[in-house]
Amino acid sequence: MKPILVRIVLIGMISLQAAPAVASSPAETADVCGECHRDIYTTWKASAHSRSLEDPTFLDAFRATEAREGDKTARLCLGCHAPMVTVNGDYALEQKTTWEGVSCDVCHSIVSVDLEGRPPGLELEIGSIKRGPIRDAESMHHEVVFSDLHTKSIACAGCHEYTNAEGTPLLTTYTEWKGSAAAQDGKTCQTCHMSLTAGNVVDPRVARVGEAEINLHEVPGGHSIQQLHKAFRVVIEPAREGDTLRVEVQIINRGAGHAVPTGMPGRRVILTVNARGYSGARFEEKRVYGKFFLDEEGDRIVHDSGYFAAGVRLESDSRIQPDETRVERFAFPIGAEVTTDLQVQLHYEHAPMGEEEPKTRLTFYSEKRFLKGSGG
Ligand code: HEC
Ligand code: HEC
Ligand code: HEC
Ligand code: HEC
Ligand code: HEC
Repeated sequence: MKPILVRIVLIGMISLQAAPAVASSPAETADVCGECHRDIYTTWKASAHSRSLEDPTFLDAFRATEAREGDKTARLCLGCHAPMVTVNGDYALEQKTTWEGVSCDVCHSIVSVDLEGRPPGLELEIGSIKRGPIRDAESMHHEVVFSDLHTKSIACAGCHEYTNAEGTPLLTTYTEWKGSAAAQDGKTCQTCHMSLTAGNVVDPRVARVGEAEINLHEVPGGHSIQQLHKAFRVVIEPAREGDTLRVEVQIINRGAGHAVPTGMPGRRVILTVNARGYSGARFEEKRVYGKFFLDEEGDRIVHDSGYFAAGVRLESDSRIQPDETRVERFAFPIGAEVTTDLQVQLHYEHAPMGEEEPKTRLTFYSEKRFLKGSGG
């Protein structure tokens, strides 16, 4: 079977007009791959990638985009959340391979990623050849080609980097990573998100190949508390100065090879500092780290459906950049004699449908200090 070459440029109408609707694409469902690559299938099934279309959070935002911005903008979403549509033309979302979202065949058919053009493009060759990181692989089901690209961060960049038509960078995970110490140390997206884990590349009942290690296809991210724990080192320094309790908090982004939060706007990290005096006095302050955008009218966008509309501009970016140490200072007039409980917390919040209804709220760091007052 000769692979068909389909050039995908995530540029809405232009690619839609250029790509004729193909009724049947040679793509296979992940279930077929899973018959042999059972362990990889299981971890992929648990990933955000396998749910990138069926995820109710995405579907809500997608339907809202269709209603507010129209089909042209909504189809842009599918370029990353259901990339198979650009091959099979299934914009009515009827085929199983469409619903599998970022599937095996999507990633293992990437032949190149073009970040020069705006917006970035993925070139997919869906067919009998599967591309991957194993040299000299042999399979009874498909042809195999060793692909250096799959061992590098560029394999992820086609969907984790996006600049809109006006030149506003919306998703910048790849460029954030490129400038990080992690990148200089040779750590790729795969190093941190697809670490090696015990498992069989191919079910031993089908074939005995290589070592019993696979790359974790679950790609844990910001919804994983374990992954969030790796992101920061936090240093807390309280000091009494007369009646004032001064608190310095340092947040050091050592563990993420990109800004935190990264990716789609609508994600925030919130620092809260609480001082609770035994006299009854209470103080709380917070800092919000996120990336904020303005719509065509100049209003702040609070809903994921708005980011891909025309005329979107960056308002501000207060995220913790890779390798940055952010220093925050607080002063609470609590009284020198008052014994105080100090609590410092970091929360991860994701509000794709607007700040009033966050879908995710995780507290991933919490530290308490008991500070004795001069009053005993
Ligand atoms: C009948 C069993 C079988 C099925 C079904 C199957 N594969 Fe494979 N696949 C293999 C074997 C065997 C290898 C070789 C492994 C090795 O040599 O280490 C392999 C290797 C691979 C590789 C590694 C290629 C490389 O050079 O790194 C990829 C990627 C891959 N398969 C993807 C897929 C995808 C995607 C599907 C579904 C569309 C699929 N496979 C279906 C048996 C199968
Ligand atoms: C988001 C893209 C992506 C998806 C989706 C994906 N893979 Fe992979 N896969 C990769 C990358 C990248 C590697 C290589 C990682 C490395 O070497 O650092 C890989 C490695 C592999 C390998 C080689 C063995 C290994 O673990 O390194 C096989 C086989 C494979 N994938 C099969 C599959 C199958 C089957 C599915 C679906 C159930 C799937 N992949 C889904 C990106 C993907
Ligand atoms: C074809 C597009 C595409 C490619 C290629 C791709 N991703 Fe993704 N990725 C997505 C989409 C879409 C989502 C969001 C899924 C959802 O939750 O709706 C996602 C989600 C994620 C998340 C989870 C974020 C969270 O919310 O916790 C991580 C981590 C991630 N991807 C890492 C990677 C890595 C590493 C690679 C490269 C090996 C990669 N991705 C390649 C499209 C892609
Ligand atoms: C040095 C390790 C490291 C590297 C390299 C790395 N990440 Fe991450 N990534 C993390 C950690 C830790 C988190 C959890 C903190 C967070 O949510 O930002 C994370 C979170 C994410 C998320 C979830 C979004 C969010 O902020 O909640 C996505 C998506 C993601 N990474 C994609 C990528 C991609 C794509 C690359 C390569 C261009 C990459 N990462 C490189 C460690 C890494
Ligand atoms: C250039 C690729 C790309 C395009 C285009 C895109 N997304 Fe995403 N989307 C992602 C990636 C990657 C993630 C997950 C990781 C992150 O935040 O970077 C994501 C995550 C999401 C999430 C969060 C899902 C969850 O449960 O965490 C929502 C909601 C979402 N996108 C909605 C949309 C909508 C609506 C559109 C179209 C208006 C759209 N996206 C267009 C790449 C894209």
